[in-house]
Amino acid sequence: MKKAEKKAENNLMEKVVSLCKRRGFVFQGSEIYGGMAGSFDYGPLGVTLKNNIKNLWWKMFVENRTDVYGVDAALLMNSKVWEASGHVSGFSDPLVECKKCKRRFRADHLEDKKKCPECEGELGAERQFNMMFKTHVGATEDDTSVSYLRPETAQGIFVNFKNVLDSLHPKLPFGIAQIGKAFRNEIAPRDFVFRTREFEQMEIEYFFHKKDWEEQFEYWRKQMHEWLKLIGLAGGNVSELEVAPADRAHYSKRTIDFEYEFPFGKKELYGLAYRTDFDLSKHSSESDADLSYFEEETKTRFTPHVIEPSFGVDRTFLAVLCEAYTEDELGGESRTYLKFPLNIAPVKIAVFPLLKNKPELVEKARTIFAELKATFGAVVFDDNGNIGKRYRRQDEIGTPYCVTIDFDTLEDNTVTIRNRNTGEQERVRVSEIAKKII
Ligand code: GAP
Repeated sequence: MKKAEKKAENNLMEKVVSLCKRRGFVFQGSEIYGGMAGSFDYGPLGVTLKNNIKNLWWKMFVENRTDVYGVDAALLMNSKVWEASGHVSGFSDPLVECKKCKRRFRADHLEDKKKCPECEGELGAERQFNMMFKTHVGATEDDTSVSYLRPETAQGIFVNFKNVLDSLHPKLPFGIAQIGKAFRNEIAPRDFVFRTREFEQMEIEYFFHKKDWEEQFEYWRKQMHEWLKLIGLAGGNVSELEVAPADRAHYSKRTIDFEYEFPFGKKELYGLAYRTDFDLSKHSSESDADLSYFEEETKTRFTPHVIEPSFGVDRTFLAVLCEAYTEDELGGESRTYLKFPLNIAPVKIAVFPLLKNKPELVEKARTIFAELKATFGAVVFDDNGNIGKRYRRQDEIGTPYCVTIDFDTLEDNTVTIRNRNTGEQERVRVSEIAKKII
């Protein structure tokens, strides 16, 4: 990449990070104590955007379907889970340490594995570093009390396979979904919320008879593209990468990464993996549980195979922000706006009285605000500064519509609706606002 292009892209990332802090989307974790690497706090608008993403995902993949069941498993699990899943022995990244400055790096991220990129000192030998956060449960700190913060939500699903089967009696094929936190002691957290030590995943384990794996893989691949469309990420910045056998996780027979063109490069957004019957078989053999399925029609018992569509919440958050960030000229003035789709925008409508020192306008605006808030929830009231400034403020946080109440409203019950993307304004009756917006 040319130097000028790289600078422009870094610049975009700087602008997104700065907007996130300025407008209350994301703050540095533990900021007043100097921060903490790889840790971020989501502010009022950030948590709303993140919740909108998670709720939409749950609606599409759980509520709107009849074959996917939700769970919310514990973060701390019996350490035998992670021994059986292969994470204790194999969930590691290659680590190298500089002999001079003592900084540590992920060996697979370095171009020159011999020279420190910070101080040019000599790098030591590569070793494997397990990424799970280890802790002790209870009052004793010995080998018997070891536990790990889960590094993926998937295992919380596998260990509940039998519970879901025994309590709801679903027929194959069916899926179990979970949204929740995952923790990885990343050697080099970087790129804002892209790679952090604490993040959220939205995962589905979809179980079926092994003969159907190719058909199921294609089906879930298409479902992932449908999801990308729903959140406005189908505009050409996402591409698929067929992961080479040597690079696949130990449990996978086929993996496709969905990559997004982030300002810092094309990077993994989501993964789709065919995990075979690896997890259920391992948990069956390592525990006393029978994790097989009995098929009535054929009177056969077998261990189902599984396809796993895995979505990172924080990477989705960052991708929709990068996709939405826009600078243009409107009415001879330059502006910045976030062109979020309506379904994920943290604020859907802003309501303004034209003048704040006219009680009759404010009263009418408050009434309309209360009505819209009852219907749309995410509606704000703003009477601060001139209308142009109020538009700019809402543009910057991605509010799709602004509704202004003026003196004509008092006469004919009409308002002005202004569209964020085009700046176009339309006069509509109060009773028709909701129809215009949906
Ligand atoms: N259960 C399969 C699994 O965990 P993964 O590719 O390691 O597979 C799945 O992770 C998704 O979780 C990734 O595609 C990414 O969206 C997200 N993710 C993984 N590590 C992350 C990190 N350190 N920070 C933020 N998101 C991460």
